[in-house]
Amino acid sequence: MKANIGIQDTSKIVDILATTLATENILNLKIRNYHWNVESLSFNDHHKFFEGLYDESNENIDAIAERIRMLGEKTPANYETYLRLSIINEEKWTNVSLTKMIEALLKDKETIICQMRKDIDAVWELGDVGTEDFLTGLIQAHEKNAWMLRSMVA
Ligand SMILES: [Fe+2]
Repeated sequence: MKANIGIQDTSKIVDILATTLATENILNLKIRNYHWNVESLSFNDHHKFFEGLYDESNENIDAIAERIRMLGEKTPANYETYLRLSIINEEKWTNVSLTKMIEALLKDKETIICQMRKDIDAVWELGDVGTEDFLTGLIQAHEKNAWMLRSMVA
């Protein structure tokens, strides 16, 4: 049934959220790769750091997917779609150095933050204050992660 929530056209908002969801899923698998495969003198610290990041990412994925449902659309749930839509690349390697892992995640987080800033403006212009607020919460979480990652490469 169509959601009668006062938004004329939800299609552009759903497209933005589907891209956000796809990107978060690709990021999630990349973080898991690093959690599993990291090797360092402080292995336990880094293993747990990546675990914290993917726990947060898991929650983001569920929240983004359910936001799409709140707008009355079905949420995409396959990796073919996620790979097509994602604005970041997946990690193809398993032997990445810790420094490269941190740098890659920082670059991805900054890419996501810059795109999300544009998306927040776009959903506001489309009259969707709920998604605007939702994405504003999400961008703050990504900004906090980016700060932590940046502090590890400084
Ligand atoms: Fe684990």
